[in-house]
Amino acid sequence: MTPSLPETLQQSVAAVREYTALQARVGLVLGSGLGDVAGAMTDAVALPYAQIPHFQQPQVAGHAGQMLVGQWAGVPVAVLQGRFHFYEGHSMADTVFPVRVLCALGVEAVLLTNAAGGVNPQFRAGDLMAISDHLNLTGDNPLRGPNDDALGPRFPDMTQAYDAACLQVLQDAARETGIALHTGVYAGLSGPTYETPAEVRMLRTLGADAVGMSTVAECIAARHMGVRVAGLSCITNMAAGLSSHPLSHQEVMDASRDNAAKLTRLLRIAVPRFVA
Ligand code: HPA
Repeated sequence: MTPSLPETLQQSVAAVREYTALQARVGLVLGSGLGDVAGAMTDAVALPYAQIPHFQQPQVAGHAGQMLVGQWAGVPVAVLQGRFHFYEGHSMADTVFPVRVLCALGVEAVLLTNAAGGVNPQFRAGDLMAISDHLNLTGDNPLRGPNDDALGPRFPDMTQAYDAACLQVLQDAARETGIALHTGVYAGLSGPTYETPAEVRMLRTLGADAVGMSTVAECIAARHMGVRVAGLSCITNMAAGLSSHPLSHQEVMDASRDNAAKLTRLLRIAVPRFVA
């Protein structure tokens, strides 16, 4: 018989616990080009995804594919350096599995970071945006299929998909560090194509400020398991039709790498406060 989701999660958790006894309080997911943010950790133990049961292997350049467990400004954290995307062909359930493992490890909050295109015409490449809410436009949902009541409810409330207190922490940390931070709605699409200009106009009409290909499914899975979620987008480019040049993955990677230091400064203040 195939093991249930709680059983597979427990097997992954047991594998992590063999490496470290540290009880992580915050989970972090580092998006495209943001892996260097993990340089802010101390005493980090690295577990390649290949050594964690039931993890897929990442295929996208810029996604390292390991979990780091260590200290972040004095708070124990578990960091996913590299994530799985729906567009790679993984099922939604496989896409969110690593975030579920963070939740099963017992973190009290997760911060989901990503590279995103700016849909709000006020934004500029290089800006940061705290996510206040999302639009799930992927056409799928990680909770589709039988529900396991041991993990969470069949019909989770999404009124506070992104935790208001965590959002406030991000905004306060930005003010204190002098880092400009927008707040807005993230539209999650399946990709892998970037959007057409018409799609970007549609997204703006729907209330989106930024667009990307990750995060929404992970947010849903974490909320399903009752864990608080914070979200942060690195606006790596203006979305199609809002800039004069075509988009490229290289541009996205370069822009988020350029922003990693700013993000690290912000998170040095913010991460401990998520659980203060
Ligand atoms: N669209 C979708 N995903 C993205 C973008 C974009 O413009 N930039 C970075 N990720």
